[in-house]
Amino acid sequence: MSDDRIYNDIAGKVAIVTGAASGIGLATVDLLHARGALIIAQDRDRTVRELAKPGIVTMVADVRDEGAARSAVETAVAEFGRVDILVNNAGIIINKPVVDMTLAEWDNIFAVNIRGVFLHSREAMRAMIPNGSGASVNVGSYACFQTFPSIAAYASSKGALAQFTRTLAVEAIEHGIRVNAVGSGDTVTHILDHLHEDGGAALAAYGRHAPIRRAAQPREIAQVIAFLASDQASFMVGAIAMVDGGKSVLLQS
Ligand SMILES: NC(=O)c1ccc[n+]([C@@H]2O[C@H](COP(=O)([O-])OP(=O)(O)OC[C@H]3O[C@@H](n4cnc5c(N)ncnc54)[C@H](O)[C@@H]3O)[C@@H](O)[C@H]2O)c1
Repeated sequence: MSDDRIYNDIAGKVAIVTGAASGIGLATVDLLHARGALIIAQDRDRTVRELAKPGIVTMVADVRDEGAARSAVETAVAEFGRVDILVNNAGIIINKPVVDMTLAEWDNIFAVNIRGVFLHSREAMRAMIPNGSGASVNVGSYACFQTFPSIAAYASSKGALAQFTRTLAVEAIEHGIRVNAVGSGDTVTHILDHLHEDGGAALAAYGRHAPIRRAAQPREIAQVIAFLASDQASFMVGAIAMVDGGKSVLLQS
């Protein structure tokens, strides 16, 4: 019997996944769907529509918008009757020293990476509280804790995501809802495509500096997201689970 059949408590649960069209979000949709979840797959990129099939309803929406969060939850309830799981995955990065950064660039990173998380969490919690159960997983980064020159906006937003995760976790657990995060290491996705001709190759190269000597594939992060979203993670509350090939534990000299 496969692991999925032995441990699967995801089947029949209703999940909202943001940033579902690419990378870690896409791998999460694939994995949750394979385990029998019913999914609202949301992305600002219209290609998300290609994911539509039985058990997956797609939405083109921008996580920065309050209406997008409301609509994702309303659609989940209308289509599948409830919300059990929220995966706040949509995120963007900018590489620019603080002295060169515009206010609009700074605000945009925060609008996607943390305002979107707040809005979707609030709406999902409101739907989960009457059920007395639910799980929310926020996609963080080694940048929840560590940094390097040029990522002030990104690292600040992911630091905020870590504290948001912890604070909401202690509010939500009273209602039987668990809130956690993953701290992803370098993962071969499209997040750097605006900076490099081949963003995936750049991430693969960064990954070679981690103790594991490689970057992750999106499914390796999705596995931990799916675990945190499942009842198997029943005692995990407010954790930032590092999934980074050892990057955050290695002291670089
Ligand atoms: N790839 C990495 O190395 C890495 C490392 C640490 C953390 N992360 C985090 O993983 C998450 C997913 O990123 P990824 O690497 O899979 O990148 P990706 O670019 O491949 O996918 C991100 C998806 O989010 C969508 N998105 C972006 N802004 C949006 C918005 N305003 N509204 C709706 N959708 C939006 C994009 O269209 C895209 O489909 C992000 O939160 C990112 O910060 C990634």
